[in-house]
Amino acid sequence: MKAVILAAGEGTRLEPLTAVRPKPMLPVANKPLLEYVVEAAAEAGIDEIVIVVGYKRERIQNHFGDGDDWGVDIEYVLQEKQLGTGHAILQVEDVVGDEFVVLNGDLIMGSESVERLVRRREATGNTVMSVIRSRQPSAYGVVELDGDTVVSVVEKPPEHTQPSNLINAGAYAFDRSIFDAIRETDSPGEQAITDTFSRIAGHGDIEGVRFEGQWLDVSHLWDLLSVNGRILDHMAAADHPSVSVHESAVVSDNCVVGPDTYVRANATVLPGVSLGANVEVGSNAVVSNSVVFADATIEPGAVVRDCIVGENATVGENATVSGGDTDIVVNGNHCENVRLGGVVGDNADLGGGVTVSPGTVIGNGTTVATGASVSGRIESNATVRRG
Ligand code: G1P
Repeated sequence: MKAVILAAGEGTRLEPLTAVRPKPMLPVANKPLLEYVVEAAAEAGIDEIVIVVGYKRERIQNHFGDGDDWGVDIEYVLQEKQLGTGHAILQVEDVVGDEFVVLNGDLIMGSESVERLVRRREATGNTVMSVIRSRQPSAYGVVELDGDTVVSVVEKPPEHTQPSNLINAGAYAFDRSIFDAIRETDSPGEQAITDTFSRIAGHGDIEGVRFEGQWLDVSHLWDLLSVNGRILDHMAAADHPSVSVHESAVVSDNCVVGPDTYVRANATVLPGVSLGANVEVGSNAVVSNSVVFADATIEPGAVVRDCIVGENATVGENATVSGGDTDIVVNGNHCENVRLGGVVGDNADLGGGVTVSPGTVIGNGTTVATGASVSGRIESNATVRRG
């Protein structure tokens, strides 16, 4: 059975980070989200993987190549326009066999869950949909089960109206009849696979298999921090190469440090921090609960908490991202009490002494002048002056 991994989408809720990379390539503990999915499929015994690519596909193909490094064969199928997950699945019609597994490429799930899916499919020959309990069901496809049969799927219903707290976990097993089922479904907008599920659920045609264990979804910018923290918590200390840490610096156990990264004298890297490759943490700087992408620089004395620092970005000397909880509006949705000190976009440059209020999102390539204070959303390639 081949595994088809859906990785063509952009992930607009994660802008500005997704302006230069597709969402599945966002790093968690210094590995792209998609790599966790490839590994889960490989560990579940699947050795042929089809990745559906589209938006910024070269980032994905350059990273995974033919899959050799993961002990699997990877082929790529192009979804030229991102017209929905059902449409993405239609693109693999010529490359899959009688039955296949489909996995969302942007969420982390354990290999045992993928194995379960495959085993159910082999045992019953049904269309199988993975479901998991959620505390926030209305943010997902909400699934109602009768025994093991899926009786309804409602995509992102208004809050507090959802019929259950089970959601579509983004992993399925199909046979080729799904292609006609997708084609025969009228979708209001994008051709989403959940539209097809909504249509055929209730005919007794879909079996729900409950996932337990690891299932981590990055929907919003702040999720990247919490998911990163969760993964680091479960990593063994031996996985943390701390090659270039100054003897007076402290790097906590549950952090990862990429190759060619330097942590200078008296700097403190507290729990929940991923430092990508070729990062510089200057002397006396403090970093906690943050994801720092490759080639970024945190200058001496800076304080960076609950923050995403983009590729090749600079946080100037003694600049402060104080961190903490905040309320943010994303695409018109009010999100309360989310932990996000700030986002510093790729190639952005914060001058010395800059202060960043909680929840600030600074666009890619933006320059913030020495001593300025910033808050809210700042567009890409802007120049922010002091005062
Ligand atoms: C998609 C599906 C949704 C499912 C979710 C799982 O939503 O449409 O039914 O619950 O994946 O992560 P999206 O992530 O595109 O918002």
